[in-house]
Amino acid sequence: MKDDTKLIHTRKQRGPVKTVNPPVERGSTVLLPTREILYGDGKVYGRMGLTVHRELEAAMCALENATHCRLTANGLQSIALAVGALLEAGDHILIPDCAYGPSRRYCTRRLSAMGISATRFNPTIGEDIEALVQENTKAILLESPGSLTMDIMDTPAIVEVAKARGLLTLFDNTWGVGVFHRPLDLGVDVVMQALTKYPVGHADALGGAVLTNDPRLANKIAMCSEDWGISLSPDDAYTALRGLRSLHARLRQHEASGYKLANWLTTRSEVDCVLHPGLESHPDHALWKRDFTGANGLFSIILKETSEAELDRFLEAMTLFGMGFSWGGFESLLIPCDDQLNRIEGDRIHDRPGPLLRIHVGLEDPDDLIADLQQAFAAMQR
Ligand SMILES: Cc1ncc(COP(=O)(O)O)c(C=O)c1O
Repeated sequence: MKDDTKLIHTRKQRGPVKTVNPPVERGSTVLLPTREILYGDGKVYGRMGLTVHRELEAAMCALENATHCRLTANGLQSIALAVGALLEAGDHILIPDCAYGPSRRYCTRRLSAMGISATRFNPTIGEDIEALVQENTKAILLESPGSLTMDIMDTPAIVEVAKARGLLTLFDNTWGVGVFHRPLDLGVDVVMQALTKYPVGHADALGGAVLTNDPRLANKIAMCSEDWGISLSPDDAYTALRGLRSLHARLRQHEASGYKLANWLTTRSEVDCVLHPGLESHPDHALWKRDFTGANGLFSIILKETSEAELDRFLEAMTLFGMGFSWGGFESLLIPCDDQLNRIEGDRIHDRPGPLLRIHVGLEDPDDLIADLQQAFAAMQR
């Protein structure tokens, strides 16, 4: 079976009434008919998940080619859970400069309060990451493409070093979604995803997932999740599962429209560079082509040097693009990101002074989106 067929047919065996979608049991208490465990698969209390959660876990395992899945209330919590479950006081973790801002903050502020230290690395480091490994290094966090700057890491090279040195690799695969990229197939130990983005796909719920093929790691993650009381509401689990069924079809459109806009933006005189790994002009295009099978609708651009007033005129003139956080929904978004960006000496964008804008290309007709940006650029010049 092809991947899109598999993702639609992960339904589990249920009782005599077989609706296509699972029931949403809104429950904390589960009434137990005997002292025996009710269903034998952990559905004894709402926090551990009910029917819809088991079905979402099965679909996520199909998506990422994993055997174990643990759900969380949002994407950031999936990263906090994976890292928190597998490291302990005295350990050290390596984190990329381009990781999603709140992940970086968690790995520095929160982990340091837990007695775990972190060192940042340049995402282009590849096998040279070995030089940063300390005696107490336990894990490497990966995210590729990196948030905002869209750097692609040489994941197989980093995994090879990690395996040789006995380190765990944890990968935020929210961009690759398990459709364009499957880190577990490349030897990564644990994958995290923000279901909030493309799996939910309609900007109306949050969720997260931690996935692995290693039963020992899965057990540690499950125990930590229980200790921290992590859960996902049944309605949000249902929303994510429903979104997954149309994921492949939606992504095909996001991908095509994303390329159309990215290519058009390369022709604009206002744009300094387009950071889309699927474009041949992207410095990591060869790595991306080797390890990914496609692109979604999220990429960034850097404008040429622009005054604050010009940028305001551009943003305020947009009518179809909304200015808001998150991505992966049906609607297009464009947001200036310099506040979240730490331009580090030696990174690729350090010497590009213009503002970085992150663009999410939604499911509108791409020609309408181009027209919207065209008139916003015109308003900027006024
Ligand atoms: C790459 C990446 N990982 C994780 C997250 C966190 O997801 P959530 O907002 O569900 O916590 C985000 C959110 O923007 C993200 O972009």
